[in-house]
Amino acid sequence: MLNLGVLISGRGSNLQAIIDACEKGGIPAKVAVVISNKPDAFGLERAKKHDIPAAVFDPKQYPDKNTYELEIVKTLKQHKVGLVCLAGYMRIVGEVLLEHYQGKMINIHPALLPAFPGLHVQQAALDHGVKVSGATVHFVDEGCDTGPIICQAAVPVKEGDTEEALSARILEQEHKIYPQAIKLFAEGRLKIEGRKVRIK
Ligand code: GRF
Repeated sequence: MLNLGVLISGRGSNLQAIIDACEKGGIPAKVAVVISNKPDAFGLERAKKHDIPAAVFDPKQYPDKNTYELEIVKTLKQHKVGLVCLAGYMRIVGEVLLEHYQGKMINIHPALLPAFPGLHVQQAALDHGVKVSGATVHFVDEGCDTGPIICQAAVPVKEGDTEEALSARILEQEHKIYPQAIKLFAEGRLKIEGRKVRIK
């Protein structure tokens, strides 16, 4: 059984999709701990409801990023986490988390990378006039949304779409592909080869 550590900053709908998929038994994994950098993240309520241990680390309480991340790493190790899942975690991962979990840390992004990395990407996709957008699950590296891609799902951009409408359409796909990617990892079927992820 693979122990997951899910890092969040807010709503936690992807966390919920992961919890639900694990509880249904489709994935040989369980959410062992939820970590938030925000004390008021709604995802913490979700963890509580499912009796999942949760911790809050406020970066402002630490002298620097390394010390902050070291606390996170300690908690992940305590819970024997084998895969870190960033799920709406609104901070750039630093060297300490990478040193301990590179190759064992994945993220979900609401665009078809490498197009539209960073923030407010659904609006950016609309402003650019793309006809298709989607979601990407990728391994985390030192860049912002640049790591090797595990899986993607595309959605159409429709005439007259608002940011909310497009975000909702993408989110529906996020909730499907994030558990799928975790399942592949948990089954030992992902192999990183340079920029590429081979699915065995
Ligand atoms: C999602 O759109 C995710 O792709 C992005 O942040 C959002 C988080 O939503 N990284 P939630 O907290 O999982 O509901």
